[in-house]
Amino acid sequence: MDGMLKEGSFENKTIIVTGGGTGLGRAMGEYLLKLGANLVITSRKIEVLEKAAEEMTSKSEGQVLPIPCDIRKYDEIENVLSEAESKFGKIDGVLNNAAGNFISPTERLSNRAFDIVIDIVLRGTSNFTLAAGKNWIAKKQAGVFLNIVTTYAWTGSGYVVPSACAKAGVLAMTRSLAVEWAKYNIRSNAIAPGPFPTEGAWKRLFPKEVADQIDPIKRIPVRRFGEHQELANLAAYLMSDYAAYVNGEVVTIDGGEWLQGGGEFNGLEAITPEMWDVLEKMRSKK
Ligand code: HXC
Ligand code: NAP
Repeated sequence: MDGMLKEGSFENKTIIVTGGGTGLGRAMGEYLLKLGANLVITSRKIEVLEKAAEEMTSKSEGQVLPIPCDIRKYDEIENVLSEAESKFGKIDGVLNNAAGNFISPTERLSNRAFDIVIDIVLRGTSNFTLAAGKNWIAKKQAGVFLNIVTTYAWTGSGYVVPSACAKAGVLAMTRSLAVEWAKYNIRSNAIAPGPFPTEGAWKRLFPKEVADQIDPIKRIPVRRFGEHQELANLAAYLMSDYAAYVNGEVVTIDGGEWLQGGGEFNGLEAITPEMWDVLEKMRSKK
């Protein structure tokens, strides 16, 4: 659970984390701050951001700038970029982490409910990417994007269909721009986390009534959830200069969860050693 990168790895770097006041965005931001970054955290709720900034700076040296921004609104994103530049001089990286999600049978969703998730996740992420990318290109500055997706960005998943559509789009954008914008010295990568407990995700995706019926731990071969520092280590590496040759990659960090569902015979985990003994005896008798 220790930090992995060298102290000072992010000195003189400014990183914007969307959704940086809560959950995984906050954990990743906190670690970047510890590594020396100037941090800009954004989301819709300024009171949450201000409290997070205060708590973060009380634990670490370094500066945190909280700026309210609804990533569905392009002008609010442009405001974040200009405020961040006024305070810190330049921006070096954007961690596209903000999202909206909830579970529901798809046929029960109103069109507005479908839109709201697509608008936050796909439109919000593409808005931030376009605004920051244009800014870097115009100023001939290098930059790095890290986009938080999920493993169902490529498998798809029932009951979170708007999120699956949107995350798949974000992954396609990550890979597309990794190629198109490499000539401008802009790298794009993604992380696909499995379950990492956060208040925001748990109350919307694993409410008690659901968790009582489906134990999410049983879906994970390593039989535990992810620790926030494990994700923060990976995020910091991918955003750092140590990963200068990593471009267009999506790194899964899920304890093997999505592959457990994919392997045809993985269900044989249910066969006990005693049953295997019986099967072996039957085989040797044939
Ligand atoms: C069905 C729902 C719903 C639900 C909202 N709606 N929640 N429909 N089931 N549980 C519908 C509403 O009825 C409304 O449609 C429309 O969606 C908009 O709802 P609002 O509440 O007005 O929207 P808003 O206040 O903007 O909130 C957005 C939100 C909310 C996405 C609905 O949950 C939110 O703020 N989320 C942000 C944080 C978050 O989701 N974190 C979890 C990320 S976890 P009508 O037609 O009635 O107007 C994650 C993990 C993935 O992504 C992988 C895990 C392993
Ligand atoms: P979270 O704490 O609810 O984070 C979501 C953040 O997005 C919040 O800070 C929220 O802040 C912000 N946000 C939502 N709508 C926004 C908007 N329109 N504009 C700006 N900000 C907005 O949940 P989390 O678990 O940490 O999720 C973080 C990321 O990890 C998401 O991309 C999620 O899909 C991904 N992920 C999580 C898990 C997991 O197990 N936790 C697994 C896979 C992927 P406001 O409400 O203040 O706007």
